Amino acid sequence: MRHEFMDLLERAKMAREHAYIPYSGFAVGAAVLTGQGEIYTGCNIENASYGATCCAERVALFKAVSQGEQDIRAIAVVAGAKQPVPPCGICRQVMVELAPQALVVMANLEGKLEIREVGQLLPGPFGGGFL
Ligand code: THU
Repeated sequence: MRHEFMDLLERAKMAREHAYIPYSGFAVGAAVLTGQGEIYTGCNIENASYGATCCAERVALFKAVSQGEQDIRAIAVVAGAKQPVPPCGICRQVMVELAPQALVVMANLEGKLEIREVGQLLPGPFGGGFL
C-alpha cells in the first residue's frame, strides 16, 4: 500500500530498532515530520527508575524542537502490537503543547494504520491559556 506517510513510518520503524527496553521488552519507534519536510526520529528509552522512561514520541518531538523546529505536521508511531499503538497521556499532553495541529499516524509492523488529529486524541486539554 502506498500513501503519503510511507517514508515517515519507515523512519519510525528504523528508529524502533534502537529502542532501549531492558524492562518492558516493548519497542516503539516514532518519527516527526516538519513543514519543511525534515524528519526527526525517536525510540523509547527506559530506566531502572521506571518513571524516568521516555516514550518514543517525546524523544522525537524533543529532538525536533531542540533543533529549532516549530512547524510539526505529523508524528508517526510504530510498535509490534496487534493494533496500532496510541500515544500515552503524557505524550498527548506534549503533542498539544508542541504540535497541536499535527496528525498522529499510528501503525503496527503489519502496516495496520490509524490516523487521528492531536485534538481528537486529547479533547479539552490543559494549556498555557489557563496560566
Ligand atoms: N511507549 C512508547 O514509547 N510509546 C507509546 O505510545 C506507548 C508506550 C513505551 C514506554 C515504555 O518504554 C514501553 O513502551 C512500555 O510502556
